[in-house]
Amino acid sequence: MKLLVTGGAGFIGSAVVRLAVARGHEVVNLDALTYAACLNNVASVADNPLYTFEHADIRDRAALDRILGQHRPDVILHLAAESHVDRSIDGPGTFIDTNVTGTYTLLEAARAYWVTEGRPERFRFHHVSTDEVFGSLPADPAVKFTEDTPYDPRSPYSASKASSDHLVRAWHETYGLPVVLTNCSNNYGPYHFPEKLIPVVILNALAGKPLPIYGQGENIRDWLYVEDHADALLLVAAQGQVGRSYNIGGENERSNLDLVRTLCGILDRLAPRAEGPYADLITFVTDRPGHDARYAIDPTRIRTELGWRPSVTVEEGLERTARWYLDNAPWWRALQARDGVGQRLGTAPLERST
Ligand SMILES: NC(=O)c1ccc[n+]([C@@H]2O[C@H](COP(=O)([O-])OP(=O)(O)OC[C@H]3O[C@@H](n4cnc5c(N)ncnc54)[C@H](O)[C@@H]3O)[C@@H](O)[C@H]2O)c1
Repeated sequence: MKLLVTGGAGFIGSAVVRLAVARGHEVVNLDALTYAACLNNVASVADNPLYTFEHADIRDRAALDRILGQHRPDVILHLAAESHVDRSIDGPGTFIDTNVTGTYTLLEAARAYWVTEGRPERFRFHHVSTDEVFGSLPADPAVKFTEDTPYDPRSPYSASKASSDHLVRAWHETYGLPVVLTNCSNNYGPYHFPEKLIPVVILNALAGKPLPIYGQGENIRDWLYVEDHADALLLVAAQGQVGRSYNIGGENERSNLDLVRTLCGILDRLAPRAEGPYADLITFVTDRPGHDARYAIDPTRIRTELGWRPSVTVEEGLERTARWYLDNAPWWRALQARDGVGQRLGTAPLERST
């Protein structure tokens, strides 16, 4: 496959780029290099003849037309987005611009390209979305998100992703564009930007700083190791049924408090702290406004139709992740200097509207 990956300098996109190149696919990485991007994430493939980088914005139609015409991909794997819920509370406008208008612009460019190429059978527009579009689940472990769960987004981020999902489906129904969609649970792993929960906990722990947990830490997420997600995305891009969506989850439900305690236990083994266990640093902070209580994925469709399941348990994945952060301090130190990193965001939506 020849892939155009948007957002390939971000956390998940870079995992897709690294895996796709390792599997022998040609990859064009299109990224606007926002605050969340880091080209070091793809340094291991930068000199590979299968890899090309295009510095471009998905809202720039002329750039998209040029890149599509020049590289002629079989698949557009669309991950470029604003992705941090707390930032969406403080500044929703950027989320609408990139996630909604950007996806619309990319869909139109993809449609023009697909038509110009003679509507090739093998072409796919794969939209990478989130389980957050489905809203919040009750505590009952039998209730999970399926592909048929009605949309009920509750944050500016999830509403913008839900909007883009709707656009992608509409471009399939109306224009016949061959699309597939995936809705995935919370990812974690190497190269995770140091504003998200797991890297924040690891890096604060190593610095002896408080480990902030929103509310009482009761919110439940279904954690998926990022390299398992990348594997699932390449599978859906190649074998997913046109017009269909697939939920991707880790089958690893944990409350935030349990997750942080597990991580503290791993760090106690890997980098013991003279003053006592890392869990002593856990600190409860004001909850996020509209914080969804529980997300959990029912992965039956991707398992039964495509034979995919996650390869890593949350304990294994957290240990790999902690080791990676311990071994890669220059990577995260450089990112800690970026705007907003290390600050509490998303607490004062009324005072900071845009
Ligand atoms: N992180 C998760 O747990 C998770 C879970 C499910 C789905 N997703 C989805 O996966 C995708 C990737 O998430 P992530 O965590 O890797 O995000 P990220 O914030 O780490 O990376 C996003 C990338 O997109 C690029 N980008 C942003 N705006 C752009 C624009 N206008 N034009 C071109 N590039 C632009 C950024 O420079 C960055 O490299 C997103 O669509 C997100 O909604 C994420």
